[in-house]
Amino acid sequence: MTAPLILSPDTVGIAKAAALLAEGRLVAFPTETVYGLGADACNGQAVAAIYTAKGRPSFNPLIVHVPSVDMAQRYVIWSDTADRLAQAFWPGPMTLVLPLRTGHGLSSLVTAGLATVALRVPAHASAQALLEAFGGPVAAPSANPSGRISPTIARHVIDGLGAQVAAVLDDGPCSVGLESTIIGLADTPTLLRAGGLPVEAIEAALGTRLATAATPTGDPDTVTAPGQLASHYAPRAALRMNAETALPGESFLGFGAMACDLNLSATADLHEAAARLFGCLHVLDAKGLPIAVAPIPTTGLGRAINDRLARAAAPRGSSATS
Ligand code: TXA
Ligand code: MG
Repeated sequence: MTAPLILSPDTVGIAKAAALLAEGRLVAFPTETVYGLGADACNGQAVAAIYTAKGRPSFNPLIVHVPSVDMAQRYVIWSDTADRLAQAFWPGPMTLVLPLRTGHGLSSLVTAGLATVALRVPAHASAQALLEAFGGPVAAPSANPSGRISPTIARHVIDGLGAQVAAVLDDGPCSVGLESTIIGLADTPTLLRAGGLPVEAIEAALGTRLATAATPTGDPDTVTAPGQLASHYAPRAALRMNAETALPGESFLGFGAMACDLNLSATADLHEAAARLFGCLHVLDAKGLPIAVAPIPTTGLGRAINDRLARAAAPRGSSATS
């Protein structure tokens, strides 16, 4: 398999990446959460190529990335709640699901035929520069084969997707390291996916608790955010959570001061653990041994870390998606 073009995040690289998007090609790019697999969100064939490259079930809709709140408002029916959250957390690691406006112009493949769309304004300087240079909405799921660990460095993208991507904009490791927090605003504000922005911060900005989406069942017809399917973010090796020690033959992924093969954060810092999570899982997965993971607190970013670990630990075979 030939390799994708590796682009630097300078003026030339950004211009090339934007030109490839305009030609309907796939370009992987960094955001502060994870690397995304980008395509022109208005070009149905380009969006279809995302599903093919990832091996992603076509019922699972994609996040549309835009450079500004102004551009986000072109596609959806905006609301006071959307405005409050956008003012507080955009650009940043938050995605809002809102009702589509008529004449939005997005490919129906992006929304998988739903009446809503997921929108995000990322904060990463290279993502912002690319979105500005392209000048339109970019559909981008995480740039990993469907159901596998999300990419937090360019190398993960190249190893996972290879030449199915025209180019990778390489700007080093992602600072947050967990996918965005997804909030459904089509009716009662609902947490659809825990992620890189702590739920507590969102609830503080709203002044109310968020509703939570129905428990994932693995049945795509009953899942509000299809990415909530049980087996997801899965390493090839089996994974066991809340382990006090490793059993013989297991790799041990630690948290806090302890003896282990790799440590998410020796100082028990949840931000550091989030940023390191997928990278550590990629490394341990390559060793091929079952993985035991130390207990992680469930507050702040710990909620999303535990969510990703629970999905990685879930029995395989329920269709995994993004
Ligand atoms: O941090 C992130 O969110 C990354 C970066 C690249 O932005 N993207 C990402 O995309 O994680 P993806 O496709 O791997 O996950 C998107 C999630 C899926 O679980 C999908 O089902 C959900 O968003 N989603 C998209 N549109 C939706 C909609 N209209 N209603 C409910 N869920 C939606
Ligand atoms: Mg994903």
